[in-house]
Amino acid sequence: MNRRKFIQNTVLTGTGIVAGTVALGCEGGKEGSNDAFAKTQPLIKPSPISISTWNTSSANNASGKLLEQGNSALDAIISGVAVEEANEENTTVGIGATPDREGNVTLDACVMSPDGDYGAVLAVENIVHVAALARKVMEETPHVIMASKGAEEFAYSQGFKKEKLLTPASEKAWKEWLKTSDYKPEINIENHDTIGMLAIDDKGDIAGVCTTSGLGYKMKGRVGDSPIIGSGLFVDNEVGAAVATGMGEEVLKTVGSFLVVELMRNGMNPQEACEEAIHRIIKKGDRYKNFQVAYIAINKAGETGSYAIHDGFTMMKHQDGKPEVIVSDYYNKI
Ligand code: GLY
Repeated sequence: MNRRKFIQNTVLTGTGIVAGTVALGCEGGKEGSNDAFAKTQPLIKPSPISISTWNTSSANNASGKLLEQGNSALDAIISGVAVEEANEENTTVGIGATPDREGNVTLDACVMSPDGDYGAVLAVENIVHVAALARKVMEETPHVIMASKGAEEFAYSQGFKKEKLLTPASEKAWKEWLKTSDYKPEINIENHDTIGMLAIDDKGDIAGVCTTSGLGYKMKGRVGDSPIIGSGLFVDNEVGAAVATGMGEEVLKTVGSFLVVELMRNGMNPQEACEEAIHRIIKKGDRYKNFQVAYIAINKAGETGSYAIHDGFTMMKHQDGKPEVIVSDYYNKI
């Protein structure tokens, strides 16, 4: 796409509402600056939309319905992911999540609001709703990241309950794992790990969240990409948002979610941007064959995209009262 040109795209949302995007290119801004692309604005706002990683339809539908009732994107996504954080059968977030190799369930989460604010918690024990806790860090402290015991104590000061996160089922699975202690995260199983959710509300504002227990049977103290701004999640309310899932170490090394949003700022649509961010990982060598990474993204016009390294990744979408399961395209077709 020629950045210098005044470009007008026409996009269709899922329900056929026509929206136009106008990218002003350098004519609208300083020569050599990408600020002009930040002015990309939909001529008509998309209807509220929520997307999320993996098969998280209950969480995503909860968020979608809240958006339709006029709630903000931030409120909708925090309530949406809370559904799965409270689901004991989901072994990748909240209560019932897979512990580290010493049997401790430690959770990571972060949130970004439409005004570009950010809050995160790392390696927190005994608190189920860490996405809501990350929001408290963002809104109630002068800081952006709180970790471990300090984050847990802060949670109690904010009225969060102490809860045992290791359930009989997750303890049984951990004890089984201990018999071999073979650490080889299985694609789409032990590194099917993160709920990321992005939403646009009825004002056209974008917010994003991710919440995770990280890799199953990780080393004590290990933290992945999910709570780290720009890696696990990035939101730019002028352009769009992206969230990652999968092997956090690889997402961190490519600052993946920020990359996706910057690619959109420079003219790619969400699908193209997710594909390019995955290709950056692929280009580093053959190791990608052993792990999964996937991105989902949304732009200001409500266009969405998703792409993974391997088969098996899905994205949930909820818009205009309609929930959809989108099976993601992927790189490794061999
Ligand atoms: N993507 C989550 C993690 O690696 O912890």
